[in-house]
Amino acid sequence: MGARGDGRRFGAVAMAFHWLTVALILAMVPIAWVMTDLPMGPDKFELYGLHKSLGITVLGLTVLRLAWRLADPPPPWPPEMPRWERWAARGSHVALYVVLFAMPIIGWVGSSAVNFPVTWFGLVTLPRLVDPDPALGDAAEQAHAVLSYVVFALVAVHVAAALRHHVMLRDDVLTRMLPFTGRRGGR
Ligand code: HEM
Ligand code: HEM
Repeated sequence: MGARGDGRRFGAVAMAFHWLTVALILAMVPIAWVMTDLPMGPDKFELYGLHKSLGITVLGLTVLRLAWRLADPPPPWPPEMPRWERWAARGSHVALYVVLFAMPIIGWVGSSAVNFPVTWFGLVTLPRLVDPDPALGDAAEQAHAVLSYVVFALVAVHVAAALRHHVMLRDDVLTRMLPFTGRRGGR
């Protein structure tokens, strides 16, 4: 498998970006649920730090991923894919990219507004995006929580679509994003 796509399958780099992002989100969402429920103390502080560091990693990966996407565009969809499905796929991918930016940035704005530092694994301290402002902090916290449900809904539709392609339409759309699988055989 090459670093770049071969016109039929995603390349190794695009796959790595995709699956690393999935793994990070799968880790950070339960961390967020646990951390918000914990009583004040060092564990809570630790988990907030971890959640923020993983979220900033998602933001960085998404910037790099879009830059890479310009250099190595995705393979074309199957020729039999109807026009409405192409629009649905494009629209939902754009929406996923939007939340991959919006979630970390709103989180970062919220932490800045309540005057909590944002560091990346304690190694780099990120600048405050806004001046302390408790009302803005509350609004950002709420927006972050509401938007997390939008993420779950988009991912649910996205996974259902991937499974529909694999199980019902029996095309290459899922396997071409999976490492270690060849092209799907004939129908
Ligand atoms: C893809 C990235 C991210 C996802 C999917 C995500 C998801 C979540 C979720 C599901 C919650 C729990 C919301 C609730 O029910 O109250 C949460 C809380 C939180 N997140 Fe994130 N997050 C992301 C990135 C970030 C970043 C980068 C920061 C800060 C730099 C951040 C800061 C926070 C904070 C401070 C809370 C707690 C808010 C509260 O105390 O109610 N998040 N996040
Ligand atoms: C946090 C969860 C996920 C996020 C944020 C996410 C995000 C994305 C994005 C933005 C793309 C568009 C890639 C591009 O064209 O640039 C994509 C493609 C894709 N995703 Fe996901 N994804 C997630 C989970 C999953 C899961 C669990 C599966 C498998 C069941 C999956 C299967 C696919 C497939 C097959 C494609 C390629 C579609 C195509 O051929 O154009 N994704 N994903």
